[in-house]
Amino acid sequence: MKICVLGLGYIGLPTALLFAAHGANVVGVDVKQSVVDCLNHGNLPFNEPGIESLYHEAKVRFRARTEPEAADVFLIAVPTPLDPATKVSDLSYVKKAAEMIAPHLAEKNLVVLESTVPPGTSERVVIPRLEKSGVAAGEFLYAHCPERAIPGRTLQEMTGNSRVIGGYDRDSIDRATAVYQTFVRGQIYQTDTRTAEFVKLMENTCRDVNIALANEFAQLAEECGINVWEAITLANKHPRVSILKPGPGVGGHCIAIDPWFLTENSTRCRMVATAREVNDSMPNYVLHIARSLLAGIRNPTICIFGVAYKGNIGDTRESPAFKFIQLAENEGYAVRCYDPYVGEFPHLLIDAADAAAGSDCLVVLTDHDCFRAIDPAGLRMRTKHVIDARNILDHEKWVGQGFSVRVLGDGSLLQPVPLGEVMPPAGLYSADATRSIAPPSPPSISLLSPNGREGYI
Ligand SMILES: NC(=O)c1ccc[n+]([C@@H]2O[C@H](COP(=O)([O-])OP(=O)(O)OC[C@H]3O[C@@H](n4cnc5c(N)ncnc54)[C@H](O)[C@@H]3O)[C@@H](O)[C@H]2O)c1
Repeated sequence: MKICVLGLGYIGLPTALLFAAHGANVVGVDVKQSVVDCLNHGNLPFNEPGIESLYHEAKVRFRARTEPEAADVFLIAVPTPLDPATKVSDLSYVKKAAEMIAPHLAEKNLVVLESTVPPGTSERVVIPRLEKSGVAAGEFLYAHCPERAIPGRTLQEMTGNSRVIGGYDRDSIDRATAVYQTFVRGQIYQTDTRTAEFVKLMENTCRDVNIALANEFAQLAEECGINVWEAITLANKHPRVSILKPGPGVGGHCIAIDPWFLTENSTRCRMVATAREVNDSMPNYVLHIARSLLAGIRNPTICIFGVAYKGNIGDTRESPAFKFIQLAENEGYAVRCYDPYVGEFPHLLIDAADAAAGSDCLVVLTDHDCFRAIDPAGLRMRTKHVIDARNILDHEKWVGQGFSVRVLGDGSLLQPVPLGEVMPPAGLYSADATRSIAPPSPPSISLLSPNGREGYI
C-alpha cells in the first residue's frame, strides 16, 4: 500500500510515520519546504513523546516532498483555522489539498480527510474538488476520519483511541476501516461523512461547555466565599456528576475553535456561543484579580509562569496567555514570561528566577508538573503576590515564604457577598469580576485558614 499524506504537522506527521512503521510506503507532503528539508535530513520539525524512535523505525518507508504523487490512499491533515474576524472556518488549506490530489487521483483510490471541518464540508467542498480529476465519487472511495489524539500523548492515542470513520458509501467505509486497522488497536465505529464531521465537533464542544460551567462555578464560589476545588471534588462523588476543572481560559487547536465550526452557519445556537464567551473571558477574570492585588504599586510587573495552552507541552496555539498579556500591557503592566516547554514567545525568559526577579505578581497560567516543585525561596520578587490559576502550587510552602496566595475559584478566605445584598448583575464583561474580593491591605497578609487552606482575608 502506498499512502500520500498531505500536511506534516502535529497530526499528519505522526500518522504518516505510524503507517510507514506498519508496512506502508509513505510519501509525506508539505507545502513548507523547510518541513520537507528537515525530515529528509533526518530531523523532526517538532517534539512529541516517542516520535523520534518512531521516525527511526519508519524512515526506510518514508520520504517527504512538496507535491503529491500517485498513490493508493491520500490522507489530508492540513490546518483548518478559524478566521478570527468572522469566527468562520477557513477551509482554504483543505480546498488546496483536494485540488493538489485531483491530478493524481485514479479509480479505486481512497481519499481520507482527517482535518476537523464543519458538517457537510466533505460533500460540498472536498468531493467536488476531487471530482475535477474526472473520476467520480463512488469510482474513487472517500472517508472522513477525524483525529482524537491530544498533544503530549499523540502516538499512544492515535493507536489506542477508538475512531469514527464516516464514508461516502459502503466500499469507502470498509476500505478506510481496513487501512486504519493496520495500526489502530482501538474500536472503529462506522457512519456517514456528515455524522463523522458532526461527532468530532460535538466532542470538543462538549468539553468547552463543561469547562465554561466549571469556570462559572469558580466565579460563583468566590462570591459565595467557598473553595470551588473542594466543592467540585465533593460534587464529583455523585455517581452521575463529572465537573471539569476551572482555569484561566481554553486554548489549543481544537477546543477553542471547534465549537465555532459547529455553530458557524446556525441561527439557533445560544449555549455553545455563550460557553465560548465564558472561557474567552477567563484571562480578563484572572487579570482583574491581579489588578486588585497590584493596586497602589508603582510600575507593577507581572511574571507569568506557563504560556503553553496546557500542561507539559510546548504548544501555544490559541493560548489564553496571549490575551492575558495583551490586556495586561494595555493596562500598563510590564510582563515577563517563563515556560520551560516553549522556545519562542513574547517576553519569554529562559530562567524562572530571572523572570520572577523584581516582579510584583506571579501568575501561574499553565499546569506544567515542574511548576509544582518550584521553590518560592529562590524567587527574588519585589512584591510577593502569586495567583495560582490552576491550583497546582504547594500553597503552604509559598505562604511560608511570605507570599500572599490567591487561587482561582477559592473564595474561602475572601469576604463573601452577604446574603440578601444586591449583587451586581452577573455577566461576562459587564460585572467587575473582583467585586467580592476584599481589597488587599498593603502589605498583603496571607493566613492559613482553620482547614489548612491559605489566602487573603
Ligand atoms: N493538533 C491536534 O492536536 C489536533 C487534534 C485533532 C484534530 N486536529 C486537526 O487536524 C488538522 C491538522 O492539524 P495539525 O495540528 O496537524 O496542523 P499543523 O499546523 O501542525 O500542520 C499542518 C501542516 O499542513 C501543511 N500544509 C498546509 N497546506 C498544505 C497542503 N495543501 N498540502 C500539504 N501540506 C499542507 C502545513 O505547512 C503544516 O505543516 C486540523 O484540522 C486540526 O484541527 C488537530
